[in-house]
Amino acid sequence: MDRDAAIALCREKCLKETTVRHLISVEGVMRSLARRFGENEDLWALTGLFHDLDQDHTGDDASNHARMAAEWLREAGVDERVINGVLAHAYAEYRTDRMSQAVVHADAVAGLLVAAALVRPERSAGMKVSSVKKKLKEKAFAPGVNRDEVTGVEDGIGLPLDEFIAVSIEGLQGVAKEIDL
Ligand SMILES: [Fe+2]
Repeated sequence: MDRDAAIALCREKCLKETTVRHLISVEGVMRSLARRFGENEDLWALTGLFHDLDQDHTGDDASNHARMAAEWLREAGVDERVINGVLAHAYAEYRTDRMSQAVVHADAVAGLLVAAALVRPERSAGMKVSSVKKKLKEKAFAPGVNRDEVTGVEDGIGLPLDEFIAVSIEGLQGVAKEIDL
């Protein structure tokens, strides 16, 4: 599936613009991580883009989260590796390779980076690793972000935290225009 079709599917399935923006932010981070590892950028990007595709439909019924998205994606003929990655962000048993583990960390860090960008006049431009780490330690800042999923990145995919944040900032900057950040 090419990116235009993928974005169109997101716009069709998401009811809130904030959800679309979240998906695109995680897409950007995943693409940047794939580049860092020399992995398949488009596959990783699609996994990020689709990970919360059903968010606006399963909000109150968490047990169906990601499973509904997986069904839609299968119908749309999306690569099974992407579908596995989408399931992996919600269920540990699908975290079977680096991409399916990376999406957990990308999801968390993207939440932190977007929140951090929103309180800066320059948004994501010129964002520094040190200032993001400060926000990470401030428990009251973006309290919905799972800190363990950010700091666990070295155990998860073997990338030191500072480098992970740097690569993730680049990823967000890569999609920043599209999401006004
Ligand atoms: Fe997410």
